[in-house]
Amino acid sequence: MEEIRQYIAHQERRLVGELLDFLRIPSISADPAYRQEVGRAADFVCAQLENCGADMVRKEVVADGHPIVLAEKMTDPSLPTVLVYGHYDVQPPDPLDLWQSPPFSPEIRDGRIYGRGASDDKGQMFAHLKAVEYLAKQKIPTCNLKFVFEGEEESGSTALAEFVRSHKEELRAEVAVISDTAMLPGNRPAITVGLRGICTFEIEVQGANRDLHSGIYGGAVVNPALTLCRMLGDLLDPHNRIAVPGLYDTVQELSGEQRRAMAEAMAPGETFTGEIGIEKFRVEEGFSPLECTTIRPSLDINGLAGGYAGEGFKTVLPAKANAKLSVRLVPHQKAAAVNALVEKRLMQLAPDTVRLTVRPGHGADPVYVPADFPAFQLAVEAMRQTFGVIPASIRGGGSIPVVALFQSELGLKPILMGFGQDSDAIHSPNEHFGLKNFFQAIETVARFYALMGRGK
Ligand code: BES
Ligand code: ZN
Repeated sequence: MEEIRQYIAHQERRLVGELLDFLRIPSISADPAYRQEVGRAADFVCAQLENCGADMVRKEVVADGHPIVLAEKMTDPSLPTVLVYGHYDVQPPDPLDLWQSPPFSPEIRDGRIYGRGASDDKGQMFAHLKAVEYLAKQKIPTCNLKFVFEGEEESGSTALAEFVRSHKEELRAEVAVISDTAMLPGNRPAITVGLRGICTFEIEVQGANRDLHSGIYGGAVVNPALTLCRMLGDLLDPHNRIAVPGLYDTVQELSGEQRRAMAEAMAPGETFTGEIGIEKFRVEEGFSPLECTTIRPSLDINGLAGGYAGEGFKTVLPAKANAKLSVRLVPHQKAAAVNALVEKRLMQLAPDTVRLTVRPGHGADPVYVPADFPAFQLAVEAMRQTFGVIPASIRGGGSIPVVALFQSELGLKPILMGFGQDSDAIHSPNEHFGLKNFFQAIETVARFYALMGRGK
């Protein structure tokens, strides 16, 4: 195992070259125009799995979704089985003009790989494939491995959710390992023990049956854009709490001791103001920025449309306005319950001069992982061997929809071993992944599978 660093150093060009090939495939799950490309990325992953000596590799399509790639590499029935999860789809790359190099023509600059998906999640999931390839080449024994790679995480994992519910036996394992999260600033290793859940909504407010001249009609006819803004504004109270009755009822309140411990484990957790060009945080009263992005629910408008926003000016009174809204959830909130509460509140907020439609979108429950099982300790040890220090246990603010299902449907214990940095600009222009992080990921994952293979 000690040769792994040398191996990575020798093979650096090939390892990085293959990742760049993966990043060239524009596997944007949200946009139907890219359906074929998502399929091409699935085939790329299958070929990689074949190449690592998997006993079984297949693709499964559920409910019109993008392909789910499944594979197995079983070594010894008496050893534990790890289910490896990752996603090969990416977020849409727009706004394109803000990219320094095109999102799907990846480039290496300043020791980082720039391209959509470099960190989230192609680079991180690819590290698992390269770790398994290394272990196979060196004939280093590992635990049993099952792989599930999906092509629609960034669109809510609807197909995978159905697949998980109907293939419990096939997915049976002791633990799930996922690299789709971040470390702490300054390259400090971390294992994520909390993820927020999410629920999403598409909202439409309809007024007149066509756009109107705002001089002829303005003042007497409802403006759906204005009404929508007012309704959305009313979803937050002056203390920046979400003004939806019942929404906080099930929120787990951490004790002062737990909050201090978290602040210490994740310190300094609030240094990103400068990097993203803001001067001040806007927090829920009584909570720190770190807490507001991890252990508190949050509500955001992800998109807003209505009226004329093109060149010049158009004095129009729009017929309708639309918004995409999401709420991030924390233990012990349930996506389905919050969905109903928010929908009910929106209905109450809509005046009788408009017609409101609320379409619930995808959702996911929050995750918390009690770090009290042996495989978690081996993950800690693998990280210690790579980084020279013990990883921190941290909470992440993002969501990975299938993880809660791994827990509830499969009884799997998730280990979220992430190698990204919060500053990787995931979902933003100029997403990147440090070469160093890519190599550390390969090393750590290989060490972990080898440690898990020593069991008995
Ligand atoms: N990799 C992220 C999730 C993440 C990022 C977790 C950073 C913790 C820290 C993931 O790919 C993602 O962005 N998921 C979406 C899911 C949603 C579309 C259902 C998210 O969180 O917005
Ligand atoms: Zn991701």
